[in-house]
Amino acid sequence: MNNTFFKKDSISLAFDDVLLVPSYSDIKSRMSTNLSTSIAGISLSVPIISSPMDTVTESSMAIAMGKEGGLGIIHRFMSIEEQILNLRAVGRECSSDNSCGKIPIVPAIGVGEEGRRRINQILLSMSPYSIDAIAIDIANGHSILMRDMIDFVNQKTGGSIPIIAGNVATGSGFSYLAEAGASAIRVGIGGGSICKTRIMTGFGMPTLSSIMDCYEAKISGGLEASIIADGGIKYPADLAKSVVAGADAIMVGRIFAGTEESPGEVVILDGEKKKAYRGMASKEVQEDRRGGLKPGTCAEGVSTHVPFNGSITEVVGNFCGGLRSAMTYAGSSNIVELRESAKFIRISDSGISESHAFGTRK
Ligand code: IMP
Repeated sequence: MNNTFFKKDSISLAFDDVLLVPSYSDIKSRMSTNLSTSIAGISLSVPIISSPMDTVTESSMAIAMGKEGGLGIIHRFMSIEEQILNLRAVGRECSSDNSCGKIPIVPAIGVGEEGRRRINQILLSMSPYSIDAIAIDIANGHSILMRDMIDFVNQKTGGSIPIIAGNVATGSGFSYLAEAGASAIRVGIGGGSICKTRIMTGFGMPTLSSIMDCYEAKISGGLEASIIADGGIKYPADLAKSVVAGADAIMVGRIFAGTEESPGEVVILDGEKKKAYRGMASKEVQEDRRGGLKPGTCAEGVSTHVPFNGSITEVVGNFCGGLRSAMTYAGSSNIVELRESAKFIRISDSGISESHAFGTRK
């Protein structure tokens, strides 16, 4: 029996367990801060990515995210033909609306035979548009299946299209994918708001600790791959905390699922406007898209409804406002400076309670 802990005597921390310590600032205006980042060779003016999930990112979301300066990755839980239509719709938007600049076109694919067929067909069908990156999207990216798929894609494209791979939870998973040739890596296992992985399998790691572990591996290994914090982002503060822990961008599902730009209609439940949101490993997705759960397997996601929260312009604006303001508390004017200057402190349960606007509690 292997009875060792991941790191002896260390405690894995979640976003809510920490705060950033305010420090001297010579930033005179938060609007002078710069939020830009680069993910898999794509320059983003906003470090936010919408998840490749069927209730989050199809062409409308990818276009809207691109216009906001972020990135939307088109999910793979539809036929190859439908996914190509979505990717081409993103391409068309850039060419028809010159004011929007180049909107990144990024498909998600899986692994194995289906993943190979999907990327082969996508690559054959995109002309005159070009794909900016390919996201290989599986639950446990620290695996031979992922490695084989990275090799396949790189052979196919001659390495000309950067790869976003994931998910991983540890520094060794990060190093494995970076060394295999991934340019950006999604970090976080079990932290998603619709995720049951931790309770079904016992495996997972708080996303904040995963980011820290991956960043340590990145720096000590001299690796260049970017870190995408993925799963469990609840507040704008989690963006600043992710950046300080080492992330170059965050990936968000739940918060974007409630927006106008996500797939699906607004419904009224208990008198409130809501939109559907579901885990890609939920029973409902397996039933709708794969003919049901395979015998001997279990669902690792749930299906729910989330409050309708308007346009992504407001949601992204709120996150960016939080990050800009965070920079002023740390006296830093960009993401790299924020990471270098800000320090975490661990807080108690009373600290967590004090952190929320308790004046509004009944
Ligand atoms: P959220 O922003 O906290 O809702 O997390 C979204 C992330 O959860 C996605 O980007 C995926 O990494 C992950 N995810 C999506 N579907 C599932 C699932 O069914 N089970 C576990 N994790 C999932």
